[in-house]
Amino acid sequence: MTTLNKNMPTYRDAELAKAAWDVLKANDRGRYTLPSPKLFPFQWNWDSPLVAMAISLVDEDRAFQEIEILLESQWASGMVPHIIYHVPSDGYFPGPEVWGCGGVPPTSAISQPPILATCLLYIIENSKDQAEALRRADPILTKLTNWHRWWHTQRDPEGSGLVSIIHPWESGRDNSVDWDSPLSAVEMKYDASSLRKDRHHVQDDAERPTDDFYNRILTLIKFGKSVGWDDLKMITESPFRVCDVGVQSILIRADEDLSTLLKLAGREGRETEEIDSWMTRSKAAMGRLWHAKSGSFRALDLIKNELVPSVSAATFLPMYAGCATDAQVKCLSKVFEKAMSECKFSVPQTMPDTPGFDPKNYSRGPSWPFFNRIVADGFKRYGLTNLSDRLREDTHAMISAQGFREYYHPSTGEGLGGEQFAWTAAAWLIWAGTPAGGATTGVSI
Ligand code: DGY
Repeated sequence: MTTLNKNMPTYRDAELAKAAWDVLKANDRGRYTLPSPKLFPFQWNWDSPLVAMAISLVDEDRAFQEIEILLESQWASGMVPHIIYHVPSDGYFPGPEVWGCGGVPPTSAISQPPILATCLLYIIENSKDQAEALRRADPILTKLTNWHRWWHTQRDPEGSGLVSIIHPWESGRDNSVDWDSPLSAVEMKYDASSLRKDRHHVQDDAERPTDDFYNRILTLIKFGKSVGWDDLKMITESPFRVCDVGVQSILIRADEDLSTLLKLAGREGRETEEIDSWMTRSKAAMGRLWHAKSGSFRALDLIKNELVPSVSAATFLPMYAGCATDAQVKCLSKVFEKAMSECKFSVPQTMPDTPGFDPKNYSRGPSWPFFNRIVADGFKRYGLTNLSDRLREDTHAMISAQGFREYYHPSTGEGLGGEQFAWTAAAWLIWAGTPAGGATTGVSI
């Protein structure tokens, strides 16, 4: 580490393992874990399974609870909401009344990257009693199949093989540069500036999205509410409809892992055949996300039917899904190496030569520990262990120097955004904190 801005101590790994468990304990609310107590005071869809992987190292029952309580809020359509508002809190905007879809507990009305099946496979593979874990997972597998079916049908009614997101938050890369062009077509009809709460919890506004972004996403929420969150209307009438290469890849990988889980559970048959057909169709459509000139995968604006002009870190995720060709992998390695020649700490959320890259701002430039693990997994899958090691070492260095922050400056390593961040602590425990990139239990939770 060379250019850290803040004068913080570099922790030893053992101290950090203990500190990571302390974060998970402090954010524990019984059956679910808060991503960060002040900034994100509810349960978030794709944070929970990632955190559950770490928890499973010491308490499998509690890890299952994290997943089960999330799926208790699954909608009849199969959609699993991105926020579950288990208890009221006035520290976050938008609250349940803004979505207006009710539920007990109330939820948001959009989803998030379907990483759960992949995390569940990790938990089952590391389980002390796999047969018992599979028994407990049985109802979860049914709910997961329904959720994946929702993505492949309600979010792809034409059966094109490309799933849509209708709100930037569904990507988990909230204000990514990837959404600038599609969002520019969303006419701002509301002013969210005085409603926002996030700025009370993060010291520097430069680390959070702009008001312009919030105004546009509030407009999208109001649109969804106006059509009663009807899936078909949202797909056909929403002013924002994009195929995110990130969600598309995470879904394909999760399909593969869900199929493995069903087979392990002795449920090979109709469900696994259906999943295989989704995978075949989705993989075949990946070519439409390839931008040959720049040698990168990109998001596809499904309203304009054109690839977005930006290259974000999601470009690497088709490797994580095992659906990049060797020639594409060569190009993607070059994109990664170029980014690394410009940033010390992999991997920036936007490639530094992309206009709009902002190294301090949320999903527009910083390096995110859990995203790094997913990207590293993809490089490893294709035998590029030097690149996956680099991701792990950089993540190790950033966390060692700055503790468990939400994200980090890719040039200086400075910790940014939310504090006491659960999935950063989890990323340390299952990956970044051990030399081999394996799991560490360290201290009991
Ligand atoms: C936020 O409020 O910024 C959340 O990330 C939305 O999921």
